[in-house]
Amino acid sequence: MKYEEKARKIVEQLTLEEKALLCAGRDFWHLRSIDRFGLKPVTVSDGPHGLRKQNESDGISGNNESIQAVCFPAACATASSFDCELMRELGSALGEECRAESVSILLGPAINIKRNPLCGRNFEYFSEDPCLAGNLAASYIEGVQNWNVGTSLKHFAANNQETRRMTVSSNVDERTLREIYLTAFETAVKKADPWTVMCSYNRINGVYASQNKRLLSDILRGEWGFSGAVMSDWGAVNDRVEALKAGLDLEMPGPGKDTCAELVAAVRESRLDAGKLDRSAARIIALELRCADSSGSAHFDYERHHALAVKFEEESAVLLQNRGNLLPLTPGKRIALIGPFAKAPRYQGGGSSHINPYHVTSALEAVKGTEGISYAPGFSLSGSTKDSVLSHEAIELAKEADTAVIFAGLPDSYESEGYDRKDLRLPENQNALIRAICSVQPHTVVVLHNGSPVEMPWANEVPSILELYLGGEGVGEAAIDLLFGRANPSGRLPESFPLRLEDNPSYLNFPGENSDVDYREGIFVGYRYYDTKKAAVRFPFGHGLSYTTFRYSNLRVDRQEISDSDTLTVQVDVTNIGKRAGKEVVQLYIRDKTGSAFRPDKELKGFCKLMLKPGETKTASFHLGKRAFAWYNTKLPGWFCGSGIYEILIGRSSRSIELSCEIRMNSSDRVPLRIDRNTTLGDLLADPRTKPALEKKLGPIMASFGNGADTDAAVSPEMMIRMIKDTPLRSACSFGVLREKELDGLISELRKLL
Ligand code: BGC
Repeated sequence: MKYEEKARKIVEQLTLEEKALLCAGRDFWHLRSIDRFGLKPVTVSDGPHGLRKQNESDGISGNNESIQAVCFPAACATASSFDCELMRELGSALGEECRAESVSILLGPAINIKRNPLCGRNFEYFSEDPCLAGNLAASYIEGVQNWNVGTSLKHFAANNQETRRMTVSSNVDERTLREIYLTAFETAVKKADPWTVMCSYNRINGVYASQNKRLLSDILRGEWGFSGAVMSDWGAVNDRVEALKAGLDLEMPGPGKDTCAELVAAVRESRLDAGKLDRSAARIIALELRCADSSGSAHFDYERHHALAVKFEEESAVLLQNRGNLLPLTPGKRIALIGPFAKAPRYQGGGSSHINPYHVTSALEAVKGTEGISYAPGFSLSGSTKDSVLSHEAIELAKEADTAVIFAGLPDSYESEGYDRKDLRLPENQNALIRAICSVQPHTVVVLHNGSPVEMPWANEVPSILELYLGGEGVGEAAIDLLFGRANPSGRLPESFPLRLEDNPSYLNFPGENSDVDYREGIFVGYRYYDTKKAAVRFPFGHGLSYTTFRYSNLRVDRQEISDSDTLTVQVDVTNIGKRAGKEVVQLYIRDKTGSAFRPDKELKGFCKLMLKPGETKTASFHLGKRAFAWYNTKLPGWFCGSGIYEILIGRSSRSIELSCEIRMNSSDRVPLRIDRNTTLGDLLADPRTKPALEKKLGPIMASFGNGADTDAAVSPEMMIRMIKDTPLRSACSFGVLREKELDGLISELRKLL
């Protein structure tokens, strides 16, 4: 509280103009400050997977060279680690670099849900699953903020495409918004308390994020208890006065158009409550006081951070396929490395997260001096006419080798902030080369460099596929360590890889029409859709192989029956039964069998990563509160937990469940019941509050369906009960069971029970 109190006192001494000035940036990368209180302008920089500090005078993002910094793997890769400790270490390395460069706020992490693999910015985002995205983000934030450097959790909210990103309205129903698009933000805010949140460019159900009171004030502050400052994405403010009213404290960048004068005029003309401006100015001063406390530089060792970048990628790359255990490669054999990415890897995406790297290492550089290695480019990134010559040379090289390793991937221009991808295909020259090489060399490995899924029409012809994602500046070293088994792959897919783009649940509604995109697939995003539909995918959510084998045993819960105020502990033993040390990601999913709502087949509610030596056994433990079982019931409105049976599933992926058990939940939550003439008997019988009274009233009739009925009759008692379940109360009159007056009496009697 100390910053907040001091800030309030300072605000009391400011003029109206000064307060308004504080609510917009001084320039692209600084906040404004008021000199007479000795506060220095705060420096902010992108983020999220490296420091992109630009020169003081630099303008619009992307055009200027930023300082040299270590380029860590992008979020698409680090999310595949499924490792909160790794994220904390990454955050800590970034925090340290920020301190060394006197950057007070790092503009990240970016945690929007991957609704559709075409989103041009998916490489910067974590996952299609909010439990994974939220928990990883919380650890990242803690890592950065332990250095007393702030973060900016972005882009709040429902910013899931780049097409028309500054005007499009993401039209999302409330349940979907809560369960899918807000949960990750909620988890990160509640667990890690980011210093700032950045609102997104788009509109949500018609209202700009920057002036969305429901999101910025009611939910973020009111429900989740966020106490930091809300800043706009760069240029996201549509109406400055409305934005401030809604809870947006800081407009970035500055000084652009004179929105401060608009604020001053609005207060003078009583269109804006002066108290609101005071509150926003106080939040910015509190932030500046906090930043002033953390000034003073640190030094970091570039080489150590580069080594961390290599390690993070080694723990994040996903071994998608490894038929006949082709990998790891055996040193000393003839190995043909093919593809320009072996020489110059693609390791980051385009836009505001683009880092000026310290030292990019290629696979060729990393493998230097190893016997038996040869190289051919095989294809060009521009698809030039020389491709047939290149491909011929590569095929000949592959023929003579024991193994061919093709370094394939998406060219830079395919994935960037600012626009979406057109399709999920690799360039056709790469697909053709992969097929041609497979036809002459059965021992072929494909190594992929991409920020988001690609279709793999050749997947059945290639024994081994290693997904590197966009692996940061150390990706070449990491690739070689993984290929030769000096590192054991332990990454898992944070998103489903569909067979075809058309299979994606949002395919028919992406990127929308004109300035509207309707999220018609609702809560059925990613594996929530594929698994519920039992639809085939290329690789499922959570999938990833290892060079060793793990066995799961002894799944146990600390009680079979819980109430909604309890915490359930789930434990499972995992043993490394292979010959190499390795890490296993244990995934916990919940399946709702209560029938209280239409829900996905299963939902991830916990994950942990265990390091196991050969023969070693460790226990994975999970603690599940009510929220892990709940869905968002708009009738309450709120999180609702149905009573009944839930299945706890422990798996290696959403499609590979190893062990499961059931528990019973006795919840005190009740579905709101509206009782009138059209309320059905089934709804009244399903509610413990009304069931006894209804049974008493209709007892004799109900009983007649069940007692001594003729089992050969065309309508069995069971059929009859199923039929009357959906009958409204008024039918009792239609069929002469009750008179109208009696029905009115029954309705008021039942209402009293609620
Ligand atoms: C991006 C943000 C970024 C900001 C500053 C915007 O275009 O959407 O993610 O932090 O620019 O570079």
